[in-house]
Parts: sequence; C-alpha cells; structure tokens
Amino acid sequence: MFRLCKLSYSTVATALKRFKIKDVVNGEAISQNGAIQGWVQSIRKHKNFMFVDIVDGTSSNPLQVVLPSHMFNSQLQNGAAVSANGKFVETGLNVNKIEMVCEEIQVIGPCDPDTYPFLKHTPHDMQHLRNYPHLRMRRTSMINAFQLRNQLEMSFHEFFQNKGFTHVHTPIITTSDCEGAGELFSLKSDTSTNPDMENSNSENHFFNKPAYLTVSGQMHLEACAMSLGSVYTLSPVFRAEHGISRKHLSEFRMLEVEVAFTQDLHEILDLIEDSIKFCIERVQSITLKKFDDGYKDIPPQHQKAVKNATCTNYVRILYSEALDILQKNSHKLTTAAPVWGDDFNSDQESFLVKHFGLTPVFIINFPKVAKPFYMYANNDNNTVAAVDLIFPFCGEICGGSLREHRLDVLQNSLRTSGLYEKDYEWYLDLRRFGSAPHGGYGLGFDRLVHFLLGTRNIKDAVPFPRTPHSCPL
Ligand code: 4AD
Ligand code: MG
Repeated sequence: MFRLCKLSYSTVATALKRFKIKDVVNGEAISQNGAIQGWVQSIRKHKNFMFVDIVDGTSSNPLQVVLPSHMFNSQLQNGAAVSANGKFVETGLNVNKIEMVCEEIQVIGPCDPDTYPFLKHTPHDMQHLRNYPHLRMRRTSMINAFQLRNQLEMSFHEFFQNKGFTHVHTPIITTSDCEGAGELFSLKSDTSTNPDMENSNSENHFFNKPAYLTVSGQMHLEACAMSLGSVYTLSPVFRAEHGISRKHLSEFRMLEVEVAFTQDLHEILDLIEDSIKFCIERVQSITLKKFDDGYKDIPPQHQKAVKNATCTNYVRILYSEALDILQKNSHKLTTAAPVWGDDFNSDQESFLVKHFGLTPVFIINFPKVAKPFYMYANNDNNTVAAVDLIFPFCGEICGGSLREHRLDVLQNSLRTSGLYEKDYEWYLDLRRFGSAPHGGYGLGFDRLVHFLLGTRNIKDAVPFPRTPHSCPL
C-alpha cells in the first residue's frame, strides 16, 4: 500500500531498519525493506510514476526512490527533508543500479520552491552558491568537497601514524610571530563584557603581552619535536594578507610536520612526496559529474595533473636552475622575469609546472633574503636549505626547510632580519638545551583539496571560507 503523509518526526518509521544511502548504493540492502532519511535533490514526474532522487550526505550518488504519481503532494519538493520506507531492488541498469520501491514517503521539513535559492536539475555556478554559505552544502559539489576533506584528513593521520609520528595540538593563540612577516590578526578581550579584565594588569593585555592568532604552528611543533622526535599537526592558521587571489584564504588548515635528527633536506622532500601520493590514492574516487555545479570550471588537463601528482616522480630543481629557466623564457611570462633574490610569483610558478609537463616541482635552496629567519644557512653563505613544492593550477602547496639549529647562527639571522632576540628567547632556548638538527614543512590542506577537486577558487573547497571583507556567518 502507498501512503504520503506528513507526521511529527517522532512517529517516523521507527520499526524499520534505517540505512545510509552509501550502504544502499553499495548493495548492502538489496531485497530488504528499510527506511532512508535525507533531502530531495530532484523529482521527475512521469505518467504513472515519480522518481525522487534523495541524498543524505553519505554518498555523492543519490538514491532513486520510485513511487506512483498519485502520491504526489505539493510538499514533496526539491530541498525538502523526507523519510521514505520501501524495498531496495536491483534495476539491472548501469545507472541507478539500486533503487527503492517506495511504500511510504513523509515530508519532515518542507522547502518552499519559490524562495529556495537552488533550482532542481540546473547546475549553478559556484559564485551563486557562495551567496548561501549555510545552504550550499546541500549541493553535490559541496558534499563531494566535504567528503574529500574528511578522507584526506583521515589519510594523513593514517600515513603519519603508520610512520610512528605523534599528532600534537599546537596553540591557536600565540605571542610569537612564526614567519616574522607581520601578517597577524591581533587578539583583544572584549572589555564591554568584562570591563575589569583589561585594567587588571599593568600592560593592559589579557595575556600581559600582545597576542595573535597563529600564522603557523611550526615553532611550537619544533619544541615538541625536541622531545617526541617526529611530530605533526593539522590545525587552523590565520593570515591577515590583504591581497585577494583565488588561492588565498584568511583562515585555512595547515598540515605541519617536524622531524628531529635530520640533516638532509631530501628526507623532507621524500616525506612530502610520499605522504601526498599516499593520500591522493586513498581519495581519488571523488569527482564531479557533468551536470554538477562547478563541473565546467575544472581545468581541461586536471585529470592528467592529478595522475602526475600520484604516479610520477616529482621534479627536484635548485632555485638557481628555476631562475635560469624563467630568465631564458622571459618572453613567455606575463610578468617581468625574476632576478636572484626574488620569490617566484604565481605566473612564474605556473610556467615552471607547465615547463615540466604538469608534474609537481620541488624548488630547493632559495636565497637567504627570500626566506624567513629560521631556515638553515647552507655552507655557500648565500642560500638556505628551503623547499617550496609547486603544484599545477594551485601554485605553492608546501613550504619547508631544515631549521637553523645552531644558536649563534640563528641569533645572527634574527638580527639581520630586523627581529629582536628578546621576542624569541624561548625559541632560542631550544638551541641552548639539547639542540638537534631538524627540519619540517607546512602543507596547505585547503590548497590540496582545491587542486584535487579542480575548483577554480579555493573558496569552493572550504566549508566556510574567510577572505578579506568576507566573513558572512
Ligand atoms: O609557506 P608557508 O607560509 O609556510 C609556513 O608557514 C611554515 N612555517 C610551515 C612549516 O614549515 N611548518 O605556508 C605553508 C603552506 C603554503 O605552501 C600554502 O600551501 C599554504 O600553506 N598557504 C595558504 N593556503 C591558503 N591561503 C593562504 N593565505 C595561504 N598561505 C599559505
Ligand atoms: Mg611559503
């Protein structure tokens, strides 16, 4: 018997086994009766039957629910939250291999089609979805992004746990500027809610000194590496950069890794390359389909680039070699060719990866002047043992180095960078007491997601993007 009704949630389908759509499409419920709950993604009405596609966030494929046309009810609309009971059957077709023959469908939360901002059957451009950051996760493109982020994070944990690294929590609030670049968000307590707090200490600061949101957990991770050996963190970091580009966020996640007792930069490069390849292999199954939002923005050679990032040996070149390539090809660049000491801009980075057939490129041994104070000074007295990894379409994905573990060299480097020793006393202590050579890197987690999804803008790879002048909720 078929019934369509609206009931209070507590009375819904308690007796039947509830299935996740992921498990149903994987064949776990064939020939069984059961219930699913989710949101209507599209409805197709035919003469005798209606096909309702339902998603519940567990699979990028919806479940097709078939019900007779007379069960149509004006509340059964695109976007509505529903609960459906019926039998899961094999269709014998290539698409929608398993569907539900529905016996009862209940609208739990109606969705007014006149005011709901998304149309059924119509791919929207990502710009439109960004206007509804709280609703856009209902779209397949964003469900894919969330699932990919989840799988990627789990794979990084798997990789580093298998290698015996310890995951640590580095602080969000800090009083140190890790990169020495001054792109910090300052932190202040809200005196209107606690007026005494700001006056209760002589320096008028909640922590007795200026505090910031962290730009990188590296320095705290170095402290942990000096006792735990090999450590990593996957934490939010914050940058008050004013330039708006399609690959910059004000808040993003960074995977940071630190290894004690290493003196070979190539060990760090191997770790970066192996971990990225391991993780991409784990998540490759998630791709947008032709009629999904954002599909048309995926760059034509995206699949080749992802394959290269998984299967080929990443190119390893010196900064001086990269500079030489760029200078010899200056006529093909849209900006002026770089000179010794410059960091490369995105046009130059993108030229380099294209030059090497869309294979990721490690650039190592940068001029000291182009990099932060903490990087290990090479014997040439001119370069530091630094690495940038450049990926197709999204530019720099990792930055790292051997760290300067020699106290006197680090003190000197602070001075020449215009920084004050007194602000880095605890960091210098790591070199005073049991200092060991070490190195590490930071990988832009959101940039990697952005690369894998092939989105034009990093904002479409992130649940709630924050950029200058934009933090709507
Ligand atoms: O190269 P960065 O600035 O390196 C550091 O912060 C080091 N202290 C990390 C370390 O050695 N532990 O940043 C690392 C990566 C970049 O390569 C880039 O992928 C990403 O973080 N990144 C950003 N991603 C999104 N939006 C931004 N504004 C970013 N800035 C850097
Ligand atoms: Mg960098």
